[in-house]
Amino acid sequence: MKILALGAAGFIGSHLTHRLLKEGHIVTAVDLQSEKVAEDLDHANLTFLQQDIRSAGWDLDGLVRDADLVIDLIAYANPGLYLRIPLEVFRLNFLENLKIAEACVRHGKRLIQFSTCEVYGRTAASLQNAAVADPEDPIHATFSEDTSEYILGPVAKHRWIYSCAKQLLERVLHAYGLEHGFNYTIVRPFNFIGPKIDFLPQKEDDIPRVFSFFMDALLNGTPMKLVNGGVNRRCYTYIDDAIECTYRIVENRGGVCDRQIVNIGSPHNEVSIRQMAETMREIYAAKFRDPATPLPEIISVPGEQFYGEGYDDSDRRIPDIAKASTLLGWEPVWGICETLETTMRYYVSERRKTAASNG
Ligand SMILES: NC(=O)c1ccc[n+]([C@@H]2O[C@H](COP(=O)([O-])OP(=O)(O)OC[C@H]3O[C@@H](n4cnc5c(N)ncnc54)[C@H](O)[C@@H]3O)[C@@H](O)[C@H]2O)c1
Repeated sequence: MKILALGAAGFIGSHLTHRLLKEGHIVTAVDLQSEKVAEDLDHANLTFLQQDIRSAGWDLDGLVRDADLVIDLIAYANPGLYLRIPLEVFRLNFLENLKIAEACVRHGKRLIQFSTCEVYGRTAASLQNAAVADPEDPIHATFSEDTSEYILGPVAKHRWIYSCAKQLLERVLHAYGLEHGFNYTIVRPFNFIGPKIDFLPQKEDDIPRVFSFFMDALLNGTPMKLVNGGVNRRCYTYIDDAIECTYRIVENRGGVCDRQIVNIGSPHNEVSIRQMAETMREIYAAKFRDPATPLPEIISVPGEQFYGEGYDDSDRRIPDIAKASTLLGWEPVWGICETLETTMRYYVSERRKTAASNG
């Protein structure tokens, strides 16, 4: 297939582009930067366009017209940015992505749209005076694509603008499906993790996703900071599992994913952020530690101090993956410890390469 992949040089995009090329597809990749696809840049089936999709005059329509399938991964996808630049998050994640979707509608092209598990928001059990018998029962935190209700925080907690922008885009795609027969598949990733997830922070105000913060702290012996004690829980999904599922959505055998929303995640990999920090520190001490660097302490910091005003968070989210299993025969295979260790090994090795090249 000829595939137009937007945001193809991000974390998920770079792994997906590699897989698409390996499977023999012809890929046009659009992104602001190309570092994460460096190993594939010379591939005969890859055309890389360094392009800001917000700038005027680029040929979105022509690229969509020439493709058999469009995959859109472009977004601000980092909680630090939802707090700092909420308007830009809305503009990119909704307005700019809508232009891509509408080009697909105009040209009758199938779109795979990356959305987010953040659309589900918080659990009902987390609400004050929640009338649930056993708040710890995972049933209260297990989210299903077509039946779960969404609970988001107030407008003043502007972190939710990311969730809202993604949710509105999903609703517009659904409406185009109803009114114009538009064919899309919406992917809701649950905390993918793996090599190239983020660059480690370079300067004081860089705020990558939590894994990269912890990794940076381990490599430098600085404190691992838990926002509000790290009590929130997440299900981490290794990128190879995620790409396997995504690739089956690309193949879409028998049209099983037509106008479907699909959760991708590892329900058995649930950890609190505190447990994640502790597990990473144990793995680091056992496998990677440089004896000259002290093991970091784990400390708690208030959310608003760490992220700024408007901070809030999902307390817990577990993917219901019955749909991916039934439609695609997919189950994740990576456990939490091997997921963390393999990802950490990549960053340790990158750090050693940098140190070696700096003499
Ligand atoms: N990684 C996860 O666990 C996760 C979880 C939920 C949702 N998602 C969604 O999956 C998608 C991909 O996520 P990711 O983790 O790979 O994020 P990422 O930030 O690594 O990738 C996004 C890519 O989009 C590119 N981009 C941003 N603005 C652009 C612009 N104006 N023009 C061109 N390119 C631009 C970036 O350069 C980047 O390479 C996003 O839509 C994100 O919201 C990811």
